[in-house]
This record gives sequence, C-alpha cells and structure tokens, in this order.
Amino acid sequence: MTDVNLNHLLEKMTIEEKVGQLVQLATPFFKGATDRGEITGPMVQMNISEEDIKHTGSVLGASGAKETTNIQRVHMEENRLGIPLLFMSDIVHGFKTIFPVPLAISSSWDLDLAEKSAAIAAEEAAASGVHVTFAPMVDLSREPRWGRVMEGTGEDPHLNSEFARSFVRGFQGDFENDHSKVAACVKHFAAYGAPEAGRDYNTVDMSVWQLRENYLPAYKAALDEGCEMVMTAFNILNGVPSTGNEELMRGILRGEWGFEGPLISDWGAVKELIPHGVAEDAKQAAEKAMKASVDIEMMTSCYTNHVRELIEEGTLEEAIVDEAVLRILRLKKKLGLFENPYRGTSEEKEAAVILSEENRKTARELASKSIVLLKNDEVLPLDSGQKTALVGPFSTSTDILGPWSWGGSSEDTITVNTGFLNHIKKEKLFISEGCGIEEGTEGQLQSALEQAEKAEVIVVALGEHSDMSGEAGSRADIRIPEVQLDLLRKMKELGKPVVAVLFNGRPLDLREVIENADAVIEAWYPGTEGGNALADIIFGKVNPSGKLTMSMPYSVGQVPIYYNRYSTGRPKNAPDAQVRYVSQYLDIPNEPLYPFGYGLSYSQFEYGELTLSSNEMKYDEQLTVTTTVSNTGDKAGDEVVQLYIRDLVGDVVRPLRELKDFKKISLEPGESEEVIFQLNESQLRYYHANMEHKSDAGEFEVFVGTNSRDVRSQTFRLVK
Ligand code: NOJ
Repeated sequence: MTDVNLNHLLEKMTIEEKVGQLVQLATPFFKGATDRGEITGPMVQMNISEEDIKHTGSVLGASGAKETTNIQRVHMEENRLGIPLLFMSDIVHGFKTIFPVPLAISSSWDLDLAEKSAAIAAEEAAASGVHVTFAPMVDLSREPRWGRVMEGTGEDPHLNSEFARSFVRGFQGDFENDHSKVAACVKHFAAYGAPEAGRDYNTVDMSVWQLRENYLPAYKAALDEGCEMVMTAFNILNGVPSTGNEELMRGILRGEWGFEGPLISDWGAVKELIPHGVAEDAKQAAEKAMKASVDIEMMTSCYTNHVRELIEEGTLEEAIVDEAVLRILRLKKKLGLFENPYRGTSEEKEAAVILSEENRKTARELASKSIVLLKNDEVLPLDSGQKTALVGPFSTSTDILGPWSWGGSSEDTITVNTGFLNHIKKEKLFISEGCGIEEGTEGQLQSALEQAEKAEVIVVALGEHSDMSGEAGSRADIRIPEVQLDLLRKMKELGKPVVAVLFNGRPLDLREVIENADAVIEAWYPGTEGGNALADIIFGKVNPSGKLTMSMPYSVGQVPIYYNRYSTGRPKNAPDAQVRYVSQYLDIPNEPLYPFGYGLSYSQFEYGELTLSSNEMKYDEQLTVTTTVSNTGDKAGDEVVQLYIRDLVGDVVRPLRELKDFKKISLEPGESEEVIFQLNESQLRYYHANMEHKSDAGEFEVFVGTNSRDVRSQTFRLVK
C-alpha cells in the first residue's frame, strides 16, 4: 500500500476503528491468546468491549511464533478492514539469549558488540512475532539510588548517544526489507533518569539548559539514527507530566526535531495524569495526551472511552486523531504487515536462532567485556590448580540475568559454579552459599567457613537480587546487604586471599567490600553466559577491559554524583583555597570511590606525552591529539583510551571534563601504539544561556587518559 492508500483506508474507518488503532492492550485481552485467563474483570474495569478489542491496534508483551500467529490470525478474521496488529515487547538486553544489562554493556565501551547484541535480540524476537521493541532506554542518570540505571548506559551524554545509535542500528537495520529486524522505540522521553532523591516515578525538575545539555542528546541521537518510535516518561518535567506535555512533545520532539513516527505512552501514563493532578478525569487525561500528540495509549482506556465524545463536543479536532492513526498505519506499512501480517514469524526460525551457539558465544564475549575489575592486589587471575572456595549467594544462583529479561530462563543460564567447573577440577572447588541475599542462618555461615577452610583462595559472590533494581527498584541504602558483608568479613578473617565478585544493577557504596577483599570484580548482571564470562576473567582466559560508565560513589551522601560536574566559586584544592569555606563535605571526600571511565586490567598501560598538532585551532580546522600507549605488562590486553575537554571560560559554566571521544585498542605485551584523535569545532559547542548551541573562541584544555581522573593534559585556543 502507498501513503495514498493509507489515506484511503483512513477515510473508510469509523471513529471507533480509528480510536482502536490508538490503543495498546496486553496479550490476554486478545482472543487468539493461549492463556486468556479471566479477562472479563479487567475489561469491565476498563469499560472496554469485545468489539473494542477487534479494533485494537497493538499488542503488548506477546511472543512465541505460535501465539503471535494465532492472535494475528483471529484478529485478521475479525477486523473489518483487515488492519493487522502490531506486536510490541520489551526486548531490552536480549530476548531468550540474555546479554548483560545495558549499564554493563556500556562498560564494554564496545559499540560494535552492543550493536551485534541488539541485532541478535531482534532476530530472536522477530522470529517469535515481535515487531517493535521498547528499547533502547537512553535515560541519562546520575542517580544510583534509581533502580533503572541498569537499563541505561550511564552518566555521560556523548557515550549515551553513541550507544543509543548502536542499539538502534542493531535492532532496526534495514527492517523495512529485512524481517529479522524489529523497529525500535526510544524511551523514556524525557529525563526519566533524574527523579528527585532517586525514587522511581518521582518529580523531575531541571533547567532547560541542563535538559538540553545532558539529558536530551541521547534521545535525539536515537532519532537521528532512524529510530521509529518514542515512548513518553512517567515523570513530570518542570511541572508538566511528559505524557501530557505539549511543549515537550509537539514543541521539541515533533516541532524542533521533526519526529513523525508514533509516540506511545508508558504503561498507564495517560490515566496517571489524574493522580499527577493535571487532569480531573479520564476524559481530560485523554484530551491532554492527544493534544500533546501521544498516539498510542498503553494499557488504560481513556482514549477508548472518551475520544469520540471529545471530538463530538468540539474539544478535540478529528484531524488530531487522524494524524495519530496515520502515524501508526505508516509504521505497520513500513514493517510490511499489510503484505504479510505474520512478517518474520516462524517456528522453524525460532528453533534455529534462539539460543544458538553463535548467539551464546556473542553473549559470553560481551559479558566478559562488560565486567569491570575494580581492585586487584596481585590475586587475579587465579591459578586453576589452587584449591578454591566459592561462597556467597551468587555462587550457584541463576538470578544473574537482571531485570527486563522476561524471555530468558534459568535453565539456560550458566551459573558461576558451572562456569568455574570449565576451568577447575571438581575436587578443587568448595562451594557454599554462606547466606541469602538479605538474610542468612548460622548454619549457612558455618558451612561456608568449613568450605573456605579447605581452600587456598576464596571467591565471594555477592550482590543484589534482580528485584532490588529495575523498575520500582529504588534503594536509599546502596550498600551490599549487611548479611553478605558479614559473610565477606568472616572470610577475610581467615587470612586467605579474598576475591569479591559483585552482581548488581547500580553503582554501590563499596567501601566495606573494598576493605575486606584483595580483589574486587564488578560483574553486573552478566546474562545467560554470565558464569562462563566471569570464569574466563577470574582464571585469566580473558583479560578484563571494562570501564565504569557511572561513577561509583564513596557514599550515598554524594549522590547525585557525576564526573562532568562544574566548578564552584570555591573549589576545593584550588591553590588559594581556604581550609573551611570551600565546597566540600566535612566527613567524606568530594571524589567518588571509583571515577567514570575507571577499570583495571591484568596488563599495565602506560601513557606517553600528549601532543597537539598546534596550540591553535581555527573554526574550520582540525586539531590532532596524539599520545602513545604501551602495554608494559606480560599479558595481551585491551585499553579504552579516553579524550576529554574543558572549555576554560564559557558564556555559562562548563564541566571540568567532558568526554568527546574514545578508542579501544588491543596491545600485546611490550607493544606500543600511537593513538590519534581528531578534534574539531563542532565538538566544542554547547548550550549558551540563550539556548544557542555554538562554541566560543578561547582557551580549552584537552585531556587523554585511562579514566576521567588519571589523565595528561594540554591546552589550545580556538580562534576565529
Ligand atoms: C513500563 C516501563 O516503564 C517501560 O519501560 C516498559 O516499556 C513498559 N512498562 C511496557 O512494559
């Protein structure tokens, strides 16, 4: 069908049929669903009829070729105009083959592998009937208390934007022709990652300058890469809930950025305009969301029940409904659903691609690259000939897939003990949980002590269970639960080398872990192949190369904490700083425990002099920034070389460091490489007080180093 045909189709549609396209319901609402359960209750509550369901435009959360085919088949029989359903699901970090959580993926700083992971997720999901994934989630966050940081790619706008692009490329590819791809839906627009006090769904209040400078770029990058859909955020932004925010949606998203695809509400977010206190009832909620150009209402029925009435009384123009319907029909057309409503769905393909050896291999590689070595006092890698105790609640746990991995299963998951057994003989490995995640018994502790007594080295696998992060997973205390810290202390008291391995979805306050372990590994939630990936690192088959993309705070009292912070008028450590009246805490350092970009290797990398091609750069010129990195260790390894800038004097304050580029290099022992970056004027632009995005002539500092703290620097001038 051409666009003209879509208009023709629109002309034939009744108001009910149009409104139906704007509605998204979960799988059990549809007749073809395998488990329709007791759906009458929810339908009565939502005041929707079987007739409404026949008009519905999209399905949430269905998967499995058999079920999606059945739902579509029944729907095609019952829908008067033969408009196919769109199937949308949260395929966030893998479908059945689960990759590490996105925060972990970003710690790999490997954009190509991130893209590949999304392509695999798309292929598995598309075979099972999914057309759109609710990903990537690109909400920048400086808030480790917020459980959803695990779903994003950290605190830096440049890195976030690069990952946003990679994920979109991986999910979508040439999706219009290639039916093993899915359309992507970037979320949550906008600034969901900055809830006050880190509590999920809470108020977001920030200057427009801050919003544009740090929070908006990754959404924009996803759209520039061709992302087909956008999802609203639950939060208010400067007083107005995103889902009814005309300025944000019609102003920035559609007006300024020219986004023409469907905008979907988050789950129930249209109706939540009522408890937010900006709509008096469902009818006004529908009006506000429609006027803000929210095309699809997810899981509530404000549109179904009130759009007709709003049009009839003249509050809402039918043209607004028509434009929304057309946006949805256009996406259906692009996906090829009018030609073939079943698109790439295939039970044979499912069987062939899901959890294939190839997909698992990529999951293992990405997981090992996502792992960050935080501390290593000459303990790692372990010698597999040593007697090793493996204790802690994660030693045998399958809960290492992380939140948003509903398609993954524990049977397919390689646990830590299984991974270890690929490297170490059974007789040399002594396993005991020692405690649960939040509670433990004396018996559990005693058994762990007995196992540890037999060993020469102790690995303690600690962390948060996956419900402690993710949606609605905010925590005020971001330490490892006390019972696990106690286990770690007891292990340390044995006087043997202790390696702590952490499974978690957020930066944590790790002070006590660091104190009580000789080596510390941040494994995040590493996914299906997690146990293998971790064992590859621990036993030295893989040299760790992950680097943090969120600062690890010293204490929760520092939060929000981020490396690209601003100076104050009274910076600490300034040459003329006073002792007291400076910007500091009296009881803790200002600095995080581990900075953005930090991560160790089994190799040692030395950075040579930093040289610039000139100490001046004209607007139309490039500046070449060069350094030499040498691997002075005895193992081959990968290093992420990071380039930051600081604009020394701006129209508005400028961050002390801003990541502008990075390169991941591989070096053999004794090998050196000249690493060359090109800087140009466009990378020096920023939002001025009047919101103009431009650079200023003047002095800049450029830094290159192994993380955002340990750098070498030079200065140059940007000149007209
Ligand atoms: C709510 C979450 O905020 C969103 O990210 C997700 O896509 C939807 N539920 C659908 O599951």
